Amino acid sequence: MPTQQHRPQLAVALDLPEKQLALALARQLRGTVPWCKVGMELFTYAGPGLLEELSAMGFSVFLDLKFYDIPNTVAQAVKAAAAAGVNMLTLHCQGGERMCRAAAEAAAGVSGQRPLLFGVTVLTSFAPGEMPGIEASPADFALALARQAGPWGLDGVVCSGHEATAIKASCPGLRCLCPGIRPAGSAAGDQRRVMTPALAIAAGADYLVVGRPITAAPDPLAMARQITEEMASAHT
Ligand code: C5P
Repeated sequence: MPTQQHRPQLAVALDLPEKQLALALARQLRGTVPWCKVGMELFTYAGPGLLEELSAMGFSVFLDLKFYDIPNTVAQAVKAAAAAGVNMLTLHCQGGERMCRAAAEAAAGVSGQRPLLFGVTVLTSFAPGEMPGIEASPADFALALARQAGPWGLDGVVCSGHEATAIKASCPGLRCLCPGIRPAGSAAGDQRRVMTPALAIAAGADYLVVGRPITAAPDPLAMARQITEEMASAHT
């Protein structure tokens, strides 16, 4: 079994269309889920002030805007995220070496706590053959990008659970953060490379990201607890 660097942690994706809805859900999950993920939908509705509010509630804050731009622009955005107290953020590995190194240098230069940088490899919504212009399988392409991520200064990569074992074996020290998590019986929706919490932990995931299975559950707290228990029993 691949080794996780610490006890795997759960992030809830607050993919909601309104700040007060997100805060209400966060209040329910406080004490059960350590990380709140703010992605492009909620960030665009609520703005950066929400990040500080979630921090003040005691959450670790994960800003998932998947930066992909010229190196200078990404570096400045990383500084802005760090100033807002973000603990973790995403950028695309496909932005390449100069973009990723610029992001890592910007993160290293912040005066407060340095945010963790995670490089998106292949979106979990891609099925084999769906990536435009890329012949490689999602598994091969994700692994090829992950091999560069550490040398380029990133702390980890975003990948599906299906790629985590190979990435952990090939890239010691690199952390894997896995979306596309679906407890047994949950609808996959637009996701294609999905895995249960237990299998993703067994595959070596360090962080699981779960959105709709929690946000759309009749009882989000009960679902978060169920996922947390499944993660704990899979992490031996
Ligand atoms: O609702 P669901 O559990 O599918 O949400 C997954 C979350 O993870 C979404 O917020 C999505 O933007 C994000 N994500 C992803 N695949 C990636 C990177 C991020 O699904 N490769």
